Amino acid sequence: MHVPHLLQQRFMDALGEFTDQPEQYAAMIRATSDPKHGDYQANCAMPLAKRLDSGQNPREVAAMLVAKLKLDDFCEPAEIAGPGFINLKLNDSFLTDSLREMLGDDRCGVHQVQTDKSIVIDFSSPNVAKPMHVGHIRSTVIGDSLARTLRFLGYPVVTDNHLGDWGTQFGIIIYGYKHFGDPEVVEANPVTELAKLYRIVNQLVEYRKAIKSLPKLKLGIEDAKQSVSQAKTDAQNAEDKQLKKASKAVAAAERRLIVAQGNLTSAEEKIATVEQDVDLGPKAEEHRTIDTDVLEETARLHRGDEENMSLWNRFLPHCKDEINRMYQRLDVQFDHTFGESFYHPMLSKVTSKLEELGLASDSDGALCVFLPEFDAPMIIRKQDGAYLYATTDLATLEYRFTEFNPSEILYVVDSRQSEHFDKLFAVADHFGLKDVKLVHVNFGTVLGEDGRPMKTRSGSLIGLESLLNDAVDRAKQLVCNPERLATFDPPMTADEQENIAEAVGIGAIKFADLSHHRTSDYRFNLDKMVDLEGNTSAYVQYSYARMQKILQNANVTEEQVADMVTKHGLEFTHAAERNLVLQLVKFEEALTTVHNDYAPNHLVDYLLKTAKAYSRFNQCCHVLKAETDAIRSTRLAIVVHCKQTLGKGLNLLGIDVVPRM
Ligand code: ARG
Repeated sequence: MHVPHLLQQRFMDALGEFTDQPEQYAAMIRATSDPKHGDYQANCAMPLAKRLDSGQNPREVAAMLVAKLKLDDFCEPAEIAGPGFINLKLNDSFLTDSLREMLGDDRCGVHQVQTDKSIVIDFSSPNVAKPMHVGHIRSTVIGDSLARTLRFLGYPVVTDNHLGDWGTQFGIIIYGYKHFGDPEVVEANPVTELAKLYRIVNQLVEYRKAIKSLPKLKLGIEDAKQSVSQAKTDAQNAEDKQLKKASKAVAAAERRLIVAQGNLTSAEEKIATVEQDVDLGPKAEEHRTIDTDVLEETARLHRGDEENMSLWNRFLPHCKDEINRMYQRLDVQFDHTFGESFYHPMLSKVTSKLEELGLASDSDGALCVFLPEFDAPMIIRKQDGAYLYATTDLATLEYRFTEFNPSEILYVVDSRQSEHFDKLFAVADHFGLKDVKLVHVNFGTVLGEDGRPMKTRSGSLIGLESLLNDAVDRAKQLVCNPERLATFDPPMTADEQENIAEAVGIGAIKFADLSHHRTSDYRFNLDKMVDLEGNTSAYVQYSYARMQKILQNANVTEEQVADMVTKHGLEFTHAAERNLVLQLVKFEEALTTVHNDYAPNHLVDYLLKTAKAYSRFNQCCHVLKAETDAIRSTRLAIVVHCKQTLGKGLNLLGIDVVPRM
């Protein structure tokens, strides 16, 4: 059920007499936020009047349009308001009929899209060999929810976890194993040990890089100081008119100086941390070329070196075990986990093809694709013969295009990779992959309380697992504290409590992440995320549990409710009933918006609005003590269907419900 589509159809029919481009005017229909203006509003009369240029004002045009509109089978007579808004109100029998139709329908009244073209979703895609951290939440959670939603809408969805299983991070653990690893210890406890080795080597590499960056950082400060003094001189000499601009330039130069000083300080801190560490200090002294040696280990792996290949083959399954544990806990599945290594054998073919097409050419020994739209080329093979991230992505793109018959390929990846994807899509165009819509579903950063990218005190990224554990602990305190537990009959078993804590805790993190539009950054705040009130998953999950309880107290099954509706009919006696049913009818609209914008926050908004409409209904409308059979069955039907919709909606976000909490 998609009411705006229904309305648009009727508007199209009526608009035909006024314009030969009815689509654009028919598209101007919105749900209203204030019931005073009806349920939906069409704003097309204003631009149409301008376009017609017939001397009629928008109200007159609106009146002519309304005279042509045929809506009486599901709307009250349209009303014209203000300068020419057309207010549309669904009639009650349309809403009750819709409720009857949706009742017991596991699609909640949502049409099934018919298409054999797939949508490929590339998401999560962590670089393995290191444990998953806070930065992996967004891609995993947004991608999973898009996959669930698009699949539910009827699209054949293909999910692929494009694991970074072939890059420098393997050079890092191979180096670590060769120099610091104890084969027996690694054998006994591979996941923890490999993570440890990764951390050690990575810190040493970063240390080397920091040392190498010092001269440049110091120069940067000198430059910045000079800019400041230049800007100050300019400001002193500036004429009155220019003064404001000049002092702005001083402030900007001073800000740049602060940033430059900050960069130097953080490099110096990195260096000091390693040098003062009893374990790392001597290692840093001994492994002075570790940064380039690590790259060499990676290159050796890519050349097929026997020892490195065998280490890679030994380590990879353990790295996968580690991330799979996380996916299991998050209830995230993939159709494919090809990973970068899968495409390695295809890379030389891709580069040759690009050369043959005249798209790639040599530049200082490197193979590059020069794109008219970009200053810098896309490098696809380095001087030393190594392929790059971009090369793999081109091979991946071609593979997906030929294997999956896609209409869309979505890349749910951090905004910081925008340039990479802009270039990739531009090349794809020249490559002949024209009939597929390529979308970088980009997203912002998870920030800590201080508004900066979330890190631990020592500056490393926060592990995903500890984050999930914290949320689950907090959920347990919130929902399963002794005071609340005393109110449950029968009492909650320990298992049930664990289940609830897991559903509420993990749900809280997912819901909070999905509630922001993906392109904005957000601050991670567990207190706000795990709360029974406010815009949280617990609030929606709790509404669900309350509905469950009402049905239990009424002692009716959902089938019995359907029978009652057949027998007694449906009728609204309170505005809160109508309002909630109207909200329930909008489910499909919410889901299509998620698709159009590739943004699950629209579904989050929808669920919160629905839960709030339910709360009002619950306050005003007694279900069990309803005065007549018709009122009682109407209200029971509303509860059944609202419960179904909230449960489905949460499920599409990847969030579980619990029968009581
Ligand atoms: N592994 C990459 C990273 O962690 C993300 C991969 C995204 N997908 C892709 N096809 N490039 O930055």
